Amino acid sequence: MLLAFELSGEHETLPAGEILACMRSLDIEHTVVKSEGQCLILKIGDETPAISTLPALLSARLAMTHHIIAVIFECRLSESSILGSVIDAEIAISRGETFSVRARKIQQSPITTERMERLIGEVIFERNRVNGARVNLTSPDHRFRAILTDDSCIFGEVLASTERREFEERKPHKKAFFYPGAISPKVARAIVNLCEIRTGNRVLDPFCGTGGILVEAGMIGASVIGIDVQESMVRGARMNLGAHGFEYQLICGDACNLPLRDQSIDVVVTDPPYGRSAVVMAESIVSLYRYALFEMHRVIVDGGHAVVVSDFELPWTDEIGFTTIELHTQRVHRSLTRYILVLEK
Ligand SMILES: C[S@@+](CC[C@H](N)C(=O)[O-])C[C@H]1O[C@@H](n2cnc3c(N)ncnc32)[C@H](O)[C@@H]1O
Repeated sequence: MLLAFELSGEHETLPAGEILACMRSLDIEHTVVKSEGQCLILKIGDETPAISTLPALLSARLAMTHHIIAVIFECRLSESSILGSVIDAEIAISRGETFSVRARKIQQSPITTERMERLIGEVIFERNRVNGARVNLTSPDHRFRAILTDDSCIFGEVLASTERREFEERKPHKKAFFYPGAISPKVARAIVNLCEIRTGNRVLDPFCGTGGILVEAGMIGASVIGIDVQESMVRGARMNLGAHGFEYQLICGDACNLPLRDQSIDVVVTDPPYGRSAVVMAESIVSLYRYALFEMHRVIVDGGHAVVVSDFELPWTDEIGFTTIELHTQRVHRSLTRYILVLEK
């Protein structure tokens, strides 16, 4: 089966990165068939266990995907080729069921989406006229979607969509405790996913601030531990985490001297201070990162991952014993590039 992921496009590499990490953490064998701008297509064996529940599981976890689509065909980008392929696909709608067709351009293309939606809709309607198929744009039984790139059309049926509104509702300023510099829930969820977390894993954020990363990790079933050097942040994080009904542990402490046993944590996900506006409790920003990385390495289990967000490429990760397995960069503005490093012990 081919699954197409229609990506949000808010970052160049993170959306695909979080999908591939989720597939690995769920032990789903897959091959990348296409990775182009806002579309990732994966081939998954039809015999994959729990394949029918996979789209719902993924859509509940992913932050930067809009839709997960079962691909029916991919064809050249031309009106005749698309309509010919829809006719050949002989899309069948059961008696009395409803459908919708939506198209989205993810690259420059001369095709108008409204016209394509109407023409494809007419073909499906005619094919199923005797069954009494009807169009319903608000809550159809079948949602068909055409993704238009600059040279092809990927067409399929939507199996699951992410609830983008829920991320909006968890934005830092809407939480019980707000402090400037808190991470956005979408970025937090994406970096949590990059860690390949499995249900029940112990996840540590040693610079937890208002608890933004811990909220996202707890929501996908991790057991979360947060540490911050400021008592006021620990109190605030408690207010934010308390709203979600899962277990958590918060400690006021120093990331450079963690009050945790060796190898007692499965993954670390963290967004340390950049030293611009956030409080830095250390000799310097360099010593803070260096000693905190030593401590992360000590407490993580062998083979465990750490995702660290920083505003400079951390030069000593190898020497500490980590292997860098992924690097995502994001240019925030002219003088700030954010680096997201995925490290493995
Ligand atoms: C960028 S903020 C984290 C923001 C957090 N991701 C959120 O969503 O609110 C960095 C945090 O590191 C904390 N911090 C600074 N030095 C620290 C240290 N040595 N050990 C632990 N926490 C420290 C600060 O108090 C601050 O809350």
